[in-house]
Amino acid sequence: MRMRSLLFVPGDSEKKFAKAREAGADVLILDLEDSVAPSMKDEARQIVTGWLDQAADVDAALFVRINPLDTGLTLADLAAVVRPGLGGLLIPKANGAHDIERIGHYLDALEEKAGMAAGTVKIAVVATETPAAMFALGSYQQAGARLVGLTWGAEDLGAAIGITDNKEPDGSWTFPYQVARAQCLFAAAAAGVAPLDTLYANFKDPEGLEVDCRRARRDGFTGRVAIHPAQVETINRCFSPSEDEVAFARRVVDLFAANPGIGTLGLDGKMLDIPHLKAAEKVLASAGE
Ligand code: COA
Ligand code: MG
Repeated sequence: MRMRSLLFVPGDSEKKFAKAREAGADVLILDLEDSVAPSMKDEARQIVTGWLDQAADVDAALFVRINPLDTGLTLADLAAVVRPGLGGLLIPKANGAHDIERIGHYLDALEEKAGMAAGTVKIAVVATETPAAMFALGSYQQAGARLVGLTWGAEDLGAAIGITDNKEPDGSWTFPYQVARAQCLFAAAAAGVAPLDTLYANFKDPEGLEVDCRRARRDGFTGRVAIHPAQVETINRCFSPSEDEVAFARRVVDLFAANPGIGTLGLDGKMLDIPHLKAAEKVLASAGE
């Protein structure tokens, strides 16, 4: 599953779903959590259910962000949305792999009830929204085969630790946030799943988004969350390898293939060894080769 752009759609807005399905995102995250007012949760479940039933006519994979496990809303969310058309869940405020395991058990039963093949519903996690979650990031290595990605969140973590701001005057993340972002990246790599950068809040700043996406990709993120359809094109482009990158990666892979049994080679006056080969293979995979 391609996961360059994951566009949030508030689960109670028919208008936004109509816009979002045309936006070109790889994944739509149909939200039942923080973008839906408490009084609208029931209605949003019904609306989202209707969208899932249209999945065959939507190019994007459909994920649902359910409410966190400690809200008492999770089971009703799952009972409503686990049905054909659901590609995955986004789990907010998770505190480690044991939360994912618990949701996996619910999914095992609900998939059976819905007549879906076991394991159909994938899981992505917002892995840094509580202080305790910061200490559980290593556990995702044991999270099992449903887990496909980890992302990190800035707003809820900040509220929990009582920060007054999360950005430096130049717009970069403050140190605690750099830690959360980097730890999310390492945790995803360790678990063998996609590292997904957090949202870029100013949806009227395409240049800033572009710079920030390039930085994220440089650091190893393979996609990111979007909050507005206008962000999707930039995100998709920035998280796709350029033609030059693909061409170079192909040369690296071809060179190693032509020299079996040799672990280090020269190309254009530079040394290449196995990590370069692995990086090149990743570039080709992300280009769909
Ligand atoms: N998905 C689909 N359509 C969206 C959208 C989204 N995430 N965000 C905006 N749109 C639509 C608007 O409805 C509007 O449609 P219209 O032209 O038919 O009126 C159009 O795109 C332009 O929107 P704009 O006026 O630029 O923004 P806004 O003030 O209407 O909305 C937000 C701003 C932030 C409220 C909106 O982008 C949003 O709801 N984002 C997602 C929020 C969310 O899910 N948060 C949870 C995760 S952090
Ligand atoms: Mg939140």
